[in-house]
Amino acid sequence: MDQNFHTIIEPFRIHSVEPLRMTTRAERASAIERAGFNLFNLHSQDVLIDLLTDSGTGAMSRDQWAAIQHGDESYAGSPSWFRFEAAVKELFPFKHVIPTHQGRAAEKIIFTVLGGRGKVVPNNTHFDTTRANVEASGAEARDIVIAEGRDAATIHPFKGNMDLEALEALLEERAGDVPVVFLTITNNSGGGQPVSLANIRGASEICHRHGVPLFLDACRFAENAWFIHEREEGQSQREIPDIVREIASLADGMTMSAKKDPFGNIGGWLALNDDYVAESCRNVLILTEGFPTYGGLAGRDLEALAQGLKEAVHPDYLRYRIRSTAYLGDALDAAGVPVVKPIGGHAVYIDAKAMLDHIPALQYPGQALAVALYQTGGIRSCEIGTVMFGRQPDGTELPAAMELVRLAIPRRTYTQSHIDYVIEVVTAVAQHAESLPGYRMVHEPKALRHFTARFEPIG
Ligand code: F0G
Repeated sequence: MDQNFHTIIEPFRIHSVEPLRMTTRAERASAIERAGFNLFNLHSQDVLIDLLTDSGTGAMSRDQWAAIQHGDESYAGSPSWFRFEAAVKELFPFKHVIPTHQGRAAEKIIFTVLGGRGKVVPNNTHFDTTRANVEASGAEARDIVIAEGRDAATIHPFKGNMDLEALEALLEERAGDVPVVFLTITNNSGGGQPVSLANIRGASEICHRHGVPLFLDACRFAENAWFIHEREEGQSQREIPDIVREIASLADGMTMSAKKDPFGNIGGWLALNDDYVAESCRNVLILTEGFPTYGGLAGRDLEALAQGLKEAVHPDYLRYRIRSTAYLGDALDAAGVPVVKPIGGHAVYIDAKAMLDHIPALQYPGQALAVALYQTGGIRSCEIGTVMFGRQPDGTELPAAMELVRLAIPRRTYTQSHIDYVIEVVTAVAQHAESLPGYRMVHEPKALRHFTARFEPIG
């Protein structure tokens, strides 16, 4: 595209449409009350613009739907499996690829094999399911993102970077207790922020010097590679697949949710080089997911993912993807709404602590904002703060490092006018932020409480 024009062009046109259902404010008020003020409990038909997650919610392409017709549902050794395996290895040339139904299944398998009591797993920032799977194995999940990555307002091109000094210190002291180091690209819980190639190289060097494997949580690898291409010195001339392959070459394995960058509605994988660990993982896979050539997936899913992986690394798509997310973030910033900056890849994160400074952390300012966005404009977002991360393994409740509300953008799904509407609603809510109530939790499940907890407004 001619760089002199600024309008963001979606690099596709619409081929098949889905209706959106309009609701009144009164309908939304009763829907959210029935849902116990938890956005996860809403019926999606009562949501107008669904920014709860970018996971499995994107639009598949014509070529993905066509690929689905090639799905071969043989139990073992299906050609769909071999196409999928080749597409994964084209970008991530690990020796073993183990298909799973989604990312957390890959996490469950690897931490069943490598986790356990007395162990500690560092990560720039664990995503909620990753943390839960580490802790379920009895191990400690430790977040060691750089200091800039814990502050919503600080500008840094690679706020997802791992604190390499902290990694070095941990491995110096306890390498024997660290079965694996994880790097999440991009860093979802910390604002969708990228990790630089230099940081991945540094982490790889430290891990390998201490004999500890480095794994990637690579859900948003293509977005991360695009940021490297755009922001890191010496990278702007490289092809995206080439950057991805270098990232993979620095690691010993990966977990993947193919519901993100690979444009799947379902899917994931675990990949790694170590033969012995791979064998142990396949033994768990067969118990929980399925035979090693389909994991938890149908042949048609494997086909859709093989095609999606090719589309995910296309520069026209990535340029549009990252610019359109920034379009929302920049507009909110210009309207005075506090957002995590720079704007991340798959989502805009509103700083609810700054916006609702009258609500204490243990009355969940992020939840308060997310509920208000739904009541006001039918927008579903997701709290990433004390509701998600506040409950500690010892049973106490502590404020999370940040109180964020994530507006996650499903891939290739909403148009710029949908986003203009979101900007209008968020700005309107920000104007009466001081009138929003805090919340108390009236029902709390034991694990991953944010999914099914119920709340009540205070006062
Ligand atoms: N790792 C990261 C960084 C993720 O963002 C997710 C999912 C997972 C692992 C788990 O993958 O859902 O396929 O089991 N994130 C979604 C989200 C749910 O909304 O951010 P999964």
